[in-house]
Amino acid sequence: MNIVMVGTGYVGLISGLCFAEFGFKVTFVDKDNNRIKKLNQGLMPIYEPGLDELFAKHQKNTKQIKLSNDITKSLSNADAVFITVGTPSRRIDDDADLTSVYAVAEEISHNIKKYCLVVIKSTVPVGTSRKIKEIIQKKVNNSMFDVASNPEFLREGSAINDFMRPDRVIIGIESDKGEKILKSLYRPLYILETPIVITNLETAELIKYASNSFLATKISFINEVADLCEKVGANIQDVSKGMGLDKRINSKFLHAGPGFGGSCFPKDVKAFSNTAKKNNIKLSIVDSVNEFNKQRPKILAKKIEKFFSNNVNNLKFALLGLSFKPNTDDIRDSTSIIIGNELLQSGAKIIAYDPKAMKNSQYENPKFKYGSDVYDTCNNVDAIIIGTEWNEFRALDLKKLKTLVNKTIIFDLRNLYNQDELKNLGWEHISIGR
Ligand SMILES: NC(=O)c1ccc[n+]([C@@H]2O[C@H](COP(=O)([O-])OP(=O)(O)OC[C@H]3O[C@@H](n4cnc5c(N)ncnc54)[C@H](O)[C@@H]3O)[C@@H](O)[C@H]2O)c1
Repeated sequence: MNIVMVGTGYVGLISGLCFAEFGFKVTFVDKDNNRIKKLNQGLMPIYEPGLDELFAKHQKNTKQIKLSNDITKSLSNADAVFITVGTPSRRIDDDADLTSVYAVAEEISHNIKKYCLVVIKSTVPVGTSRKIKEIIQKKVNNSMFDVASNPEFLREGSAINDFMRPDRVIIGIESDKGEKILKSLYRPLYILETPIVITNLETAELIKYASNSFLATKISFINEVADLCEKVGANIQDVSKGMGLDKRINSKFLHAGPGFGGSCFPKDVKAFSNTAKKNNIKLSIVDSVNEFNKQRPKILAKKIEKFFSNNVNNLKFALLGLSFKPNTDDIRDSTSIIIGNELLQSGAKIIAYDPKAMKNSQYENPKFKYGSDVYDTCNNVDAIIIGTEWNEFRALDLKKLKTLVNKTIIFDLRNLYNQDELKNLGWEHISIGR
């Protein structure tokens, strides 16, 4: 089977390469010529563990993949085309911006020459897949195509494994032919007994938003409890552990910190709430999560300022971690960067370091200064802020750091360190909910 992935970002590139790994021929299309050019030279536009190797394997050895910016040519022989373009928040109303999704649907409608299954993998509000069907119907006979919703659940940082061993696959489809194609594309997962849930288009779309919003709710819930812990002398890590051992609750997404960021949760929570509003339903829990999380990094920045008697003017902070989570270079809605910028606005100086996200951050945050490694970054600073829980920040040489900094203060926003150990080493350690 021939597959086309339109949009070669985190989702398109990774899921397409995993389909190549399953044995299918995959063509990657992107409107960004530069991205395609670089990929053709073997240069990866994003960082994701294992991605370079998987790409090289299928580009050089199996030759299962092709890269193109010509959608007409790519679609001429396609059995299935996946729409994997971005759906960011719209500035005006926080709704999902579907411009790219609809533009791709239009392009597809002009280029279907034989039967092709159109699969929407981008996260789109309920009703979008049906609109895409209508767009294509205007140009193409119904017998020549079907539309499916197949939301993606991979997580950056463990994306390849997530795609190859998912908890479930969701397929919204209303034709037997389309269902058969999708089931054969995911056949390798049957061996692993992966549950495959077949629904209508609307249900599949809603499952994605409800799942992300629920996970976001867990994070906000534990962050609120962390605030209470600080007031009453409880320890949030023990509270999380005690709660998470209950199988009905589960320990995942119960880590207190600076709130959720990234390219998905913030925008999906907002879009979910907007979809409900348009249908005269108020998702009050989701709305509260959105509001609480928007304020969370700003409140933590204020907490840092308060520590310095609300005067951080000219103080120098080492900001460790810029990506929204470890093992990715994605800085979209990174809480660490939001905190850095808040402090910057209050007159502080920020010197930042991240193992993989330096280039992206340097481009977007030119007012930060950047260190070449942790120790260079922490030289002469008044405080260290751990913003992202990269492994490399879990075992810092604190004795060495002590000789470099102006003041021995760590704001450990990811609760990586034991308070007593740090205290014994002579550090002032400010963490979350402890
Ligand atoms: N990143 C994740 O972890 C993740 C996980 C699950 C679902 N999703 C969803 O998947 C979708 C894609 O996310 P992403 O993070 O991969 O986005 P991304 O921004 O990394 O990549 C999108 C790509 O689409 C390309 N593109 C945009 N318009 C195009 C067009 N008209 N024709 C061809 N290419 C076009 C862009 O150039 C870019 O390369 C979003 O809806 C997102 O919510 C993302």
